[in-house]
Amino acid sequence: MHSHFIHTTPHRDFLNIGDFTPDETFALFDLAERMRLQVYTAKPLAGKALAMIFMKASTRTRVSFEVGATQLGGTAHFLSPRDVQIGRGEPVEDTARVLSRYVHGIMIRTFAHADAETLAQYGSVPVINGLTDLSHPCQVLADVLTVRQHLGDIRGRTVAWIGDGNNMANSWIEAAAHLGFALRLACPEGFDPDAKFLRAAADADVQLLRDPAEAVSGADVVTTDVWASMGQEEEQKQRERSFAGYQVDRAMMARANGGAIFLHCLPAHRGEEVAADVIDGPQSVVWDEAENRLHIQKAIMAVLMGNEPLTAN
Ligand code: CP
Ligand code: NVA
Repeated sequence: MHSHFIHTTPHRDFLNIGDFTPDETFALFDLAERMRLQVYTAKPLAGKALAMIFMKASTRTRVSFEVGATQLGGTAHFLSPRDVQIGRGEPVEDTARVLSRYVHGIMIRTFAHADAETLAQYGSVPVINGLTDLSHPCQVLADVLTVRQHLGDIRGRTVAWIGDGNNMANSWIEAAAHLGFALRLACPEGFDPDAKFLRAAADADVQLLRDPAEAVSGADVVTTDVWASMGQEEEQKQRERSFAGYQVDRAMMARANGGAIFLHCLPAHRGEEVAADVIDGPQSVVWDEAENRLHIQKAIMAVLMGNEPLTAN
């Protein structure tokens, strides 16, 4: 094994929800909450750098990681495929080894999840998944943090996922099994979540349904996402037909529990997966949800890159 001058300890990655144990994940929420309340003011990333590889567009992920790293005393470096060699075919393996000589953590947003895994395998610094076609774990942790902020502990609660069985749905499935809440997914036939994620959650309270009305009945949280994810733009029209009847509108929200909250990872398409009066209505907490990306990712970076201990308060 080789070693080099910056990093000597084995690194931990955050590619999926299960990369932190359930206890660690709850401690991560406590840490993020201290960051949200500005009780935590340490600078564990002082002198450290995060590289951010973006093979897809982003508003929230880019800005929240960039600002978060800065607030923790570090720097963040935005790498788009237009500017860096990875966009011209430099192997992920080589990119991983080179970036590991400069930085203390790498965030990647890309298409194939295997590329994030390769980066983690060949890099010698922590790799954080900022969204792949398979999963979006930072977002779902931010979502659970938002549930905790508005409803308290998520354990024992019921979440309804309406629409596409996409990267977000997969991470919700993992979170339900891992953290102990009920998840009802309503996805049209042909748009099921990843079979491996469903199998891994076979013993959890996770149900895949077709009927959105059934899924939202008894739900404390209703959530959805775009019908065509990044990379599926050319399927937009055909998907609009397949997802007819899956819009989260006021009638659908009325079937959920009183006091239910609405979540959406954003960007949203009003009039498609969600009605404007739901996302802009009183049950929507999507702006807190977007803000929580900053707090949870700061907690993740502090732990993985800044040696912040994960202990329950
Ligand atoms: N929710 C989310 O990841 O947003 P961006 O695509 O803007 O980063
Ligand atoms: N499922 C969406 C989420 C965007 C944050 C996508 O992958 O485009």
